[in-house]
Amino acid sequence: MRKPLIVGNWKMNNSIAESVDLAEKLKKVIKDMAGVDVVVTPPFTALGSVRNAIKGSIIKLGAQNLFWEDKGAYTGEVSPLMIRDLDCEYVIIGHSERREYFKESDEIVNKKIKAALRNKLKAIVCVGESLKEREENKTMQVIESQIKKGLQGLSLSEAKELIIAYEPVWAIGTGRNATPAQANEVHAYIRKLLSQILNEGIASNIKILYGGSVKPSNSAELMSEKEIDGALVGGASLEAESFAQIVRSACMV
Ligand code: 13P
Repeated sequence: MRKPLIVGNWKMNNSIAESVDLAEKLKKVIKDMAGVDVVVTPPFTALGSVRNAIKGSIIKLGAQNLFWEDKGAYTGEVSPLMIRDLDCEYVIIGHSERREYFKESDEIVNKKIKAALRNKLKAIVCVGESLKEREENKTMQVIESQIKKGLQGLSLSEAKELIIAYEPVWAIGTGRNATPAQANEVHAYIRKLLSQILNEGIASNIKILYGGSVKPSNSAELMSEKEIDGALVGGASLEAESFAQIVRSACMV
């Protein structure tokens, strides 16, 4: 049985004060929800303050990105060690916005996954097809390529700490979510791929999250699907009550 996981991706939003305010509100509304794991990923600038604000709650901390080297002359980058230093347990890797705007290739995603796992961070690896690819019936092909290249060369013990997030690009920030059946179909395909690349035992324990316009009005239905183990939430994670409602819907499945 995989414990549901709900992750709030705040993206490039919120000042330090706004982040702390949101974290404090979340701490009040998200409690006594033992049946679900909850993670927030504030911007780098607010990680330290949010870490302090969520102390004593069930909410865990994650980063939105990392660089693959531990230290050195890499101006502007943030290393896995620095992220660990801020008590982050999770890191998002290969989000479609990074793939698109920063040209992150599957090779880069692979290096980042290895760096995260080597440093005992749980890697939330994002995959997903564009609208054009879906319309051309290339969804599974794209997913297969992203997963195979992204996970290349991982040891089985490292791979246990992976989390996959299926985020169809056409559903991100558009208000247009994949239907539960569409998402479940891709999730089942991802799990099949994971059992081929790794093994069935490990694959059956890896959480596969859905992301793309998850909101209180659709989360329960999405979460009730067999292969959907939680959600990676963008816009709706910026407001405490809507994020809490999504967390609650995961508790009830
Ligand atoms: P939205 O929930 O705003 O569509 O964003 C999804 C996402 O990109 C989470 O990583």
